Amino acid sequence: MTTADRLQFRHTPVMVNEVCALLINNRSGVYVDGTFGLGGHSKALSSQLNSDATLIGIDQDDTTLAQFSPSLVQQNLHLVCTNFENLDQVLSDLNIPQVHGILLDLGLNSFSLDDPERGFAFSLQGPLDMRFDRSNEISAETVLNSYSQEKLAEIIYRYGEERNSRRIARRIVEMRTEKRLTQTDELKLAVIKSIGPRFQNKSLARVFQAIRIEVNRELDVLSIILNTALQVLAPAGRLAVISYHSLEDRIVKTHFRELALDIPEQPGMRKDEIKIPLLKRITSKPVIASQSEMLANPRSRSAKLRVAERTEHAIN
Ligand SMILES: C[S@@+](CC[C@H](N)C(=O)[O-])C[C@H]1O[C@@H](n2cnc3c(N)ncnc32)[C@H](O)[C@@H]1O
Repeated sequence: MTTADRLQFRHTPVMVNEVCALLINNRSGVYVDGTFGLGGHSKALSSQLNSDATLIGIDQDDTTLAQFSPSLVQQNLHLVCTNFENLDQVLSDLNIPQVHGILLDLGLNSFSLDDPERGFAFSLQGPLDMRFDRSNEISAETVLNSYSQEKLAEIIYRYGEERNSRRIARRIVEMRTEKRLTQTDELKLAVIKSIGPRFQNKSLARVFQAIRIEVNRELDVLSIILNTALQVLAPAGRLAVISYHSLEDRIVKTHFRELALDIPEQPGMRKDEIKIPLLKRITSKPVIASQSEMLANPRSRSAKLRVAERTEHAIN
């Protein structure tokens, strides 16, 4: 598929109406789309914001960011190619102290997934890359050829929740002693040879996900931005996160729950022991896509949207 073909199909943003309804709390505010991708969510947000609002679009993938035409939004738009873990630096560079909404639509976009050269899809032959940011030193090839067998097994188990992680890691190490692994087909073969034909696709998806999470430090950067969001959100500002697997969703759920202090105050607590909630949960349960959206866009089937609002209380 050529770039033109892939652009034609583009990326269908997930739960756009739900995101706009739950995120926007100040139509003239500053909004950060921390995972700008092809700009689908930003375009929808833009259509509901006043013209004096500001949009900041962040994506660490320069190829994706370059596809967007700024004329599609009427607000002041800043596009920044960086990891969202650097949000505090981005805001300080733009001289913006506080924002009114932050959106994170985690993972990768269909445009990158469908590009064989990026190495994200086990169904496409290509180099073992998997970097969102291609200026990073560590690619899937680095991970697969230099990590110890134990470390590979741990990553595949923790980030892919794959039961056959040890067997797969052993096979990877056996194969790489013969020849350095460089192609997605070789990783695919290591998995297939380790687990047999049943449930092959599920295991392949889990292993590719695990290596991608490790390459891009996906869970670490998520924890970092959740904390930064607290520092930069104005009171009543909102944070919306769409996650696509349980590892990410668990981090978001726990963070929201802890900062909303859903654990009740204990009787007899001293005043200095009583904590103040820094977040209020807007969604008590994750919002999921409608049946019709799931039918029209299979990617939305695993999506979970959680939204929380910054309270008035100051951070000590
Ligand atoms: C699911 S897509 C977002 C699609 C977007 N909402 C749209 O409507 O087009 C996720 C995007 O976030 C980017 N991304 C993932 N992790 C990131 C991070 N830590 N920092 C910056 N961008 C990231 C990916 O490169 C990808 O383009």
